[in-house]
Amino acid sequence: MGSLTAKINSMIDSIINSSPIGIFDSGIGGLTVVREILKKLPRENLIYLGDTARVPYGTKSSKTVITYSQSNAGFLISKGIKLLVVACNTASAVALPSLRWDFEIPIIGVIEPGARKAVRATKTGKVGVIGTPSTIKSNAYKKAMESIAPEIKVYSKACPLFVPLAEEGWTDGEIAELTVKKYLGHFKESAMDVLILGCTHYPLLKPMIQKVMGEDITLVDSAEETALEIKGVLEENAISNKNSSIPQREFYLTDVSETFISIAGRFLGEEIQQVEQIDL
Ligand code: DGL
Repeated sequence: MGSLTAKINSMIDSIINSSPIGIFDSGIGGLTVVREILKKLPRENLIYLGDTARVPYGTKSSKTVITYSQSNAGFLISKGIKLLVVACNTASAVALPSLRWDFEIPIIGVIEPGARKAVRATKTGKVGVIGTPSTIKSNAYKKAMESIAPEIKVYSKACPLFVPLAEEGWTDGEIAELTVKKYLGHFKESAMDVLILGCTHYPLLKPMIQKVMGEDITLVDSAEETALEIKGVLEENAISNKNSSIPQREFYLTDVSETFISIAGRFLGEEIQQVEQIDL
């Protein structure tokens, strides 16, 4: 009887461990988080949902972003995921508490990992944060950093034009440089030594931001930090995938435009083979 129970328990564990990780974003930006997950956790099965019909979230009210996030999470949870990643800074900034209240599975956002890394990295105690207008207005990064280091000084700036620049592929050259200088030029007068890229699209502009801000500024990429956090949570809960079969990747969008495949390839670093359109 004891050995039957042990066998059943181990079968249940193996089903949970090989269940996919669910990831959602307002659109395709969350693919920068998927890219880092693929690097750090290549054996995991993944389901990605991009809410491309309702993007952008960054200029919408908190109430709307919370409603959209709940429907995205509900869709992924109906697919039997073991862990939910909110791979959107705006949704993480405003909807995480309500998602954690509504759903019981582990939920990881992109704000806390980035905030922790920035606090660890700063020597001057002065940190910059850039993101969408909603993320900046929420002060989510500031609050997360102050909860770890109350004396930290935070400089924030919304950079809405970075999103279309990244999607258009204009991440180097004159227009990108002028835009980055216009938004971030004044930061150079502060003594900040760390800048958080608090939007899923901004890792594509990383080389240009580094060029404008100079090599002495440490750029914190929340996509990278989130992938490390996921790894930690899977290990802590003993739910990493040990199965050696080829990992499954599923991509769902609420609207599939003609340009999606080429733009998505740039964000993910490889071509997406198949996408399914769904209604939420
Ligand atoms: N994914 C969003 C974020 O990280 C950027 C795009 C949007 O505004 O929806 O905040």
